[in-house]
Amino acid sequence: MKGVILAGGLGTRLYPLTHVTNKHLLPIFDKPMIFYPIDTLVKAGIRDILIVTSGPHVGDFLGVLRNGKELGVEHLEYAYQEKPDGGIADALLLAEDFADGGPVCMILGDNTTDADIGGDVKTFQDGGLVFLKKVTDPKRFGVAVFDESRERIIRIDEKPENPASNFAVTGLYVYDNKVFGYAKSLKPSERGQLEITDVNNCYINENNLKWVELKGFWSDAGTFRSLYSANKFWAEKQGE
Ligand code: TTP
Repeated sequence: MKGVILAGGLGTRLYPLTHVTNKHLLPIFDKPMIFYPIDTLVKAGIRDILIVTSGPHVGDFLGVLRNGKELGVEHLEYAYQEKPDGGIADALLLAEDFADGGPVCMILGDNTTDADIGGDVKTFQDGGLVFLKKVTDPKRFGVAVFDESRERIIRIDEKPENPASNFAVTGLYVYDNKVFGYAKSLKPSERGQLEITDVNNCYINENNLKWVELKGFWSDAGTFRSLYSANKFWAEKQGE
């Protein structure tokens, strides 16, 4: 399986830090943020990775990551998203050639987790797979709505006023190659983005979206609060 890390976006919620560099190169304890999703993919056996990035600081990635060999990546590619805030599904579309007809494991570049997703990646067959995490503040996320048996997701609500569950859709996904057709079929949302929630809802409509609960720590790091809690977790994990 190939891996895709999305590291575009504008990072406006972290201004003025993101005036200095791309959000995904800011530090989380002793490493740049993007090292964490790279490590999650490499540990899952994924060594062929595409980084989609954009914005004024794209050149900074090469200096930090070079060819990725020091991080265990065998083949590292970069793609440039013309509209930095075109949306997660818009960024994913840049991975179509790279995927070369196969499935992809995608991680948002500001997500960090110590979960091992290797087993789920190895057993993946087709459709879509989302990793869910129980959260205390579901209103901030895409929230899974389950059927009565709680086995199947019947809908994903984006930042709902009244969340139907406390399971957030994290920024880790595995998709078969149909994902590119679904992403191309989308219309921009009210905020002008191609939304990944709409892609996931396409899989739900085809009765082909599976889910697993992410074990261990998971956090995005896109706000000062979540950046702080991610720093705290990784520092403490290393005995600080
Ligand atoms: P967001 O946090 O939703 O957006 P952002 O990074 O632009 O931050 P802000 O809202 O503070 O302006 O993005 C989640 C992840 O997805 C992030 O790691 C960057 C990535 N992303 C892209 O690669 N391209 C995009 O068009 C968007 C919107 C996000």
